[in-house]
Parts: sequence; C-alpha cells; structure tokens
Amino acid sequence: MEIKIKLDRQSKTPLYRQIASQIIDNITVGTLKEGVCLPAERKLAAILGVNRSTVINAYHDLEKQGYVTPHVGKGTVVTSVQFREQADSFGWQELLSGHGESLMNAYNFTMSELLRQRDLIAMDSGIAAPELYPKKKFAEICQKILFSEADVILQYDSAHGIRSFRETLTSIMQNRSVEVSPDNIIVLNGSQEGLDLISRILLEPGDCVIMEEPTFLGAIDIFRAYGVRIIGVPVDSDGMVVSRLENIICRVRPKFIYTIPTFQNPTGVCMSMERRQRLLEIAGKHHIPIIEDDAYGLLNYGESETPALKSLDKHGNVVYVSSMSKMLCPGLRLGWMATPPSLTPFVAAGKQLTNLHTNNVLQRMVDLFYREGHLQDHIIRSRRYYSDKLHLMLAALEKHAPRGLQWNKPTGGFYIWATLPENLSAIQVLQEAVKNKVSFVAGPVFYHNSDGHNKIRLNFSYTKPELINEGIKTLCYIIKNSLKDPHKWSNNEIKPMV
Ligand SMILES: Cc1ncc(COP(=O)(O)O)c(C=O)c1O
Repeated sequence: MEIKIKLDRQSKTPLYRQIASQIIDNITVGTLKEGVCLPAERKLAAILGVNRSTVINAYHDLEKQGYVTPHVGKGTVVTSVQFREQADSFGWQELLSGHGESLMNAYNFTMSELLRQRDLIAMDSGIAAPELYPKKKFAEICQKILFSEADVILQYDSAHGIRSFRETLTSIMQNRSVEVSPDNIIVLNGSQEGLDLISRILLEPGDCVIMEEPTFLGAIDIFRAYGVRIIGVPVDSDGMVVSRLENIICRVRPKFIYTIPTFQNPTGVCMSMERRQRLLEIAGKHHIPIIEDDAYGLLNYGESETPALKSLDKHGNVVYVSSMSKMLCPGLRLGWMATPPSLTPFVAAGKQLTNLHTNNVLQRMVDLFYREGHLQDHIIRSRRYYSDKLHLMLAALEKHAPRGLQWNKPTGGFYIWATLPENLSAIQVLQEAVKNKVSFVAGPVFYHNSDGHNKIRLNFSYTKPELINEGIKTLCYIIKNSLKDPHKWSNNEIKPMV
C-alpha cells in the first residue's frame, strides 16, 4: 500500500505535524487501513529527508491522538476507530504556544533509544569513544567526594557553579589562550544549555542570527525554536567565508553571529587566523556579538594550535561556550560559558530560573579529575586515539572511494565532510547504507534550508577502530552501486511503500 506525504519546508507548521496530519488524512480516506504497519521510523525519515526524531515525534503525536499503537516486534500499527475514540481528548495540542509548537520539531525523544539499538557501524554519531570513558577513576573520585564533602556538595550552591570547578575551567581555557575570571563563568548542563540560555536572553521572534552553513544542527534547532530568521554564511577550507559578512550585516542587522571556529561540526574545518581577526574586526565595527562554540577546541591532532576566537577578543563581544561532552563524556552533561562581565548576571539569572544550578557532585568530580592531573592525561590519550581513528578512516577512503567522491582531511574534532559523486542524493544513499548496517549523517540537516543534498558527515570518534575500514568499504560499495542507477535519485514527491 502506498501513502503520499509532501512536506512544505517553508510552512510554519512543524514538519512532524505535517507528517502526522497527512498520515491522518490517509487513515481517514482509507488509504491506510486498520492494522496496517506504518513505515519504520528510520526508513520514513530517510525517504522524507528529515531527522528520525521528526518521524518519531509524528508517530508519538499520532499515538497520543489514538490513530496508531506501537507494537513490539511489529512496529507502529494503525488502530481501530473504536480505540481512537477513547484516546486523549483533552486537546493539549491546541493549547501550545508558538514556542511550544516549534520545540517539538527539535525534540529528540530517542537519543538513548538510538544508542541502544546500535547493531550497525555508526558513523552518524557525534559521541566521544565510550572505550575511553574513565569509569574507574570517576568511581574512586565520586566515593572520595561523598565521604569527605557530602555536607557541602549535596547542598544547593551558586547558579554560577561551584567556585573550585570554575577556577579549574579558567585553567582549562588557558590551553585555548583564553583568560577569564571565574566570576564570569557559568557552569551548564552541557553547552547546548548555554546556546538556549543566550538565545533566551538576547533573541526576540523575528530577529536574525548569522551562522556558518553547514553548522551544528542543535544550534539551528534552538534558534529556530526562538522564532528567528537564520542567515547562513558558507564555510570553505579556511572556515566561515567572512568576506560575505559585512554585506549581510548591513542588510539584516543580526542579533548575533554563531560560529564554531575550531574543528567545526560538521565539516571539521578550523578557521584561519586571518579570518578570525577579520571576523572580530567586522563584528566589533558593527557592534554585533559573537557566540563562539568551542566544543572541539582541545581535540587537536595537528602540529599547531589555533587559539580560541575569544582569546583575540578586544571589544568584549565574544561569548565563549564549551563542553566536557567531546573531550570527556557526553552523559555528564557538563558545559560552561564565559561571558563578558556585563552579561554574566543575566545568564546566571536565566540559569537559576531554569534549574538553579548544575549538579554539584559532577562538577566537583570533574574538578578533582582535573586537579589530580587525570583530565590532562585523558586529553592527551584521546588526541592520540582519535588521530589514529581519523587516519584509519582517511586510509579506508583512499582505498575504497569511487571516482568523484571527495572528502576533506581535518586535523581535529570528530568529523570528515564529504561530497558524493555526480550529485547523488545523500538521503537516498543513507537509506541503502542503513539497510547494509552502516550509517552516516546526510547533509541537509546541517543547513537551515535543507541544502547540502549531496553532502555527508562521517564520524570517526565513536566507531571501533577495527570496524572503520569495513564501514567505509560498505559505504563506498553502496555509492558505486548507486552511480550505476542514477535515475532512481530524483524525488520531489515522496511515496513510501507501506
Ligand atoms: C558544536 C557543538 N556544540 C555543542 C554541542 C552540544 O554539546 P553538549 O553535550 O555539551 O550539550 C555539540 C554536540 O554535538 C556540538 O557539536
């Protein structure tokens, strides 16, 4: 049986609502009959060119409205009319604010579910290698803290974060040549919280934000949820093409510029020093703040270190955000923000309103992990390990790549950015790849307007070294095969088979 879903990406209706309502139409007109299984989430996501979480949200929405029921081993099944009538009839959806509506498009119900389902060579992740997680040392330190500091550490503390950890963070930032006072650091539940906080403080619906494009999809989702217009500036091998900036700034007066200058996600590119200087000059001249996301800054596998943008900031217009997620482990949910002094009280107040402060035990655990010298060792070990994985992936690409597949050679971070030959569709290749137990991220999610249809992001940090060659070999085989059948790569209207 065939269902038709056509997405309008310009529409204000979130994609998950569009998918859900078109499935309801199909159920109502009888194209989808009671008892029929909907396409698997991953499959429908690949076909529609959306995040899997968007399809999952659509299916959750349908479930809440009683149109479908999830069945273990069977999938998502269209329910009977009788059952549908008994479903939640309060109508919460009609009560959602504009912000509430837009949140759902970004919400990923399934981060942990996805991780549990990993029976494939996952080159789609953005995760630090679990084999490096310092489990034993963490257990020892945690025990020590709870024995000796429990009365203090289990109490409420300042919204800024515990003082000793903020001092540690100033030392960590010195490795990025950033000098800030602990008074201007706010410890966060991951750097994503920082991007949300700064958006909450600075953005109004209708504002413009400039970002590199492609860029971190979490940031696109956050800015979108605040109802702003995103203006993309392309990235080349030297980072954001800042020569385009001045024109855009004069035209749209952006609220801020968001950038990942060092080992960018998804391209792995490091912005040149000349461009960093120029970016600061332009932003300073026009009084535009810059949000520097330095999540990968310390994961450098090259010969030279490029200092953080913040270290060159003479005007005090750079807000620096970073994280323990990539250099240590993401599940800690520890990040931080270094703000210009006049902004700090607002960020602290925002933080306090949301969750008072970040978990003290974890702050202190990582604080001691650093003070005892383990974090420094961990970073040295991680750099070596990821550098080896990067080179394994580059060697596998050299060996197996079909003619026309192009990729870059980053010197840090987690990702290789590649362009498919002959304009193949990344989404279609991904569909085949997943069938063959290999995954990557298709380019469009990294663009606010879903460009990048023939781009792919390959992650090398997460996959076990012994699987990297096999993963790339399979992927390259799929690309070669796809080239033999180019006519199947055009899809404006999506017709998933049910
Ligand atoms: C550039 C960038 N910033 C921020 C984050 C989010 O990190 P955190 O886990 O600290 O919220 C990520 C995660 O992928 C990222 O790639």
